[in-house]
Amino acid sequence: MARAGLKEKLRAAGVENPDLELRILLRDLGGFDDTAILLGRIPDPLPAVILNAIDQRLAGKPLSRILGYREFYGRRFYLNDATLDPRADSETLIDAALQWAKENPYRTLRILDLGTGTGCLLLTLLAEIENATGVGVDLSVDAVSMAQKNARTLKLKSRAAFQTGNWFEGITESFDMIISNPPYIRSDVIPDLESNVKNHDPILALDGGMSGLEAYKILLSNLKNHLVKDGASFFEIGFDQAEDMHRLVEKYDMKLVRIYPDLGGHPRVVKIRYGDK
Ligand SMILES: C[S@@+](CC[C@H](N)C(=O)[O-])C[C@H]1O[C@@H](n2cnc3c(N)ncnc32)[C@H](O)[C@@H]1O
Repeated sequence: MARAGLKEKLRAAGVENPDLELRILLRDLGGFDDTAILLGRIPDPLPAVILNAIDQRLAGKPLSRILGYREFYGRRFYLNDATLDPRADSETLIDAALQWAKENPYRTLRILDLGTGTGCLLLTLLAEIENATGVGVDLSVDAVSMAQKNARTLKLKSRAAFQTGNWFEGITESFDMIISNPPYIRSDVIPDLESNVKNHDPILALDGGMSGLEAYKILLSNLKNHLVKDGASFFEIGFDQAEDMHRLVEKYDMKLVRIYPDLGGHPRVVKIRYGDK
């Protein structure tokens, strides 16, 4: 493939910012620095590793899956086939949880992250909150090993433990904060998802069952067994699930105290506490 016309090909394949993506591929896979790229001092034809990556991109593979990592809240998280590609919308949960941590500076936070995937939520909070410790759980063994790798890379291993399990399975202690971004897409909607999602994110990370709310029911029904009385819980939700969540939280005798919007203005995160808080 000749270099000329590459950007147009990428654009035609639906890549919104081919300039940026080419620069990232040249930098991260080709080892070219920005100066060499901006001065056009790169070989033509491009090295095979870059051409191969471009072929994958033209075939619809997300850039993060080609590179094997995604930036989340300013840090690099490595991915594998068992992990969700972390989403910018999930940074809403980080902001909400950090705000609560700031309002409760006297606590040494113990955090439980259910459905941890890459570990991006738990590890980001541990990196941002000095002295906090946490446990991340995932049903997927391969996701857990990727979260462990990310903990090592981010030098957070001493404050983060990861284990395989079915939601609260194997969890015996209580926590000051319980967070989760569980699978919340209705099973019947999954075939209609964009191909870059349904072909590259694991189904275990997406499928929220018939109602889309199945994981929340399990999380809420067990919350009181593991959340300390004056603790707080933060769950990511689908853009159209705020009303349903409100109802569900009340059904399980907890209180939905706040809803946080994402950057698009959609309801994205709920804060849940005990009813009397
Ligand atoms: C939407 S992904 C979220 C991943 C990560 N926390 C993030 O925000 O990028 C949901 C995660 O829940 C995990 N999961 C699904 N069912 C589970 C279960 N029964 N018990 C524990 N984890 C589960 C999936 O493997 C996946 O990693």
